[in-house]
Amino acid sequence: MLNKIEIKNILKENNNLIKEIGLQGNDGIIKKDMEKKFNEIIGFSEKILNVVKKIKPNKKLVFLECSCGKSYLSFVLNYILTSKFGINAIFYGVDTNHELIQKCEETQLALQFTNMNFIEARTIDFVPIVSVDIVIALHACDTATDEAIAKGIMLDAKHIMVVPCCQGQVRSQIKKPHPLSSITQFGLLRYKFANLLTDALRSQFLLGSGYFVELLEIVSPKLSPKNILISARKIKNRHNRTLDDYFELSKMFNTHFGLQDLFFENQMKDSLLKTG
Ligand SMILES: C[S@@+](CC[C@H](N)C(=O)[O-])C[C@H]1O[C@@H](n2cnc3c(N)ncnc32)[C@H](O)[C@@H]1O
Repeated sequence: MLNKIEIKNILKENNNLIKEIGLQGNDGIIKKDMEKKFNEIIGFSEKILNVVKKIKPNKKLVFLECSCGKSYLSFVLNYILTSKFGINAIFYGVDTNHELIQKCEETQLALQFTNMNFIEARTIDFVPIVSVDIVIALHACDTATDEAIAKGIMLDAKHIMVVPCCQGQVRSQIKKPHPLSSITQFGLLRYKFANLLTDALRSQFLLGSGYFVELLEIVSPKLSPKNILISARKIKNRHNRTLDDYFELSKMFNTHFGLQDLFFENQMKDSLLKTG
C-alpha cells in the first residue's frame, strides 16, 4: 500500500495531525524525544497497511488498539486509511491510564475523528460491542502484550499484530536446569534468550490457536531495539486448538507463561457468562 518514505511524507504534509498527536513541535520539526516513536509508528503502520491491502475490506474495518497510550498509531492509521484511501474504519483504543484516555479524547475532538472510541480498561476486560478485525498493540508493557494476544484470540480477530515492549516474565524461570543451561548461565545471554523464548512462546500460542504467524522487524534495530512484530493471521476454517508445541517449548525450559492463564481463565469466565 505505502512504504515508510511515503507514509513519512504523508504525515509531514499534514502538520496538523502530527502536531495534535504530540509528535511534532510548533517549529514544524519532529520533537527530539519523539523521533524513535515516530519511526516505530511509521514502521508499524507500513506493516498494518500491507495487511489491510490484502483484506480488501468491503465492510467497516474494526481496529482494536490495546494499551493505546496516546494512540499515536491509531490516529496515524485512521488518517491514512480514511483520508487517503477512503476506507471505512472504526478504531477502539483501550488503556488503563485515565489521563491518557482523556488526552486521546481531546485529540480526537481537535482532529474531528468521529470514528474513534477510547475506553479506560484493562485490555483483557474490554468487551467490544462489534466484531473486531484487527488487534494491534505497540509496546504494551510486558504482560499487557499477552492480554492483547489473548483478547485477539478470544475475539476471533482476523489479524493480531503486536510489537512487544519487554519480555520479563520468563527471565527468572529459565535459571532452572534445561537443555540450553550452558548458554543461559551467563546473565547477558539469559536476558537475550529470555526475550527470544518469550516471543517464541507467544508465537507458538498463536500458531496453536489457528493463526499463521510471521515475525518481522518494523524498523532497523539501530533505530529501535524494541522492533519485533509478531504478526498473526487467522487461518480460515481452523477451529481446533492444538497447543502441543507451545506446551512442549514451555516444558523444555521449565517456564509457566502468563499468556496461557490469561487466555484459559478469561475464556472460562466468558463461557460461564454466556451460559448464565
Ligand atoms: C509503553 S506504553 C505504550 C503506549 C502506546 N502504545 C505507545 O506506543 O505510545 C504502555 C501503555 O500500556 C498501558 N497498560 C499497561 N497495562 C495495561 C493493560 N493491562 N491493559 C491496557 N493498557 C495497559 C499503560 O497505561 C501505557 O499507556
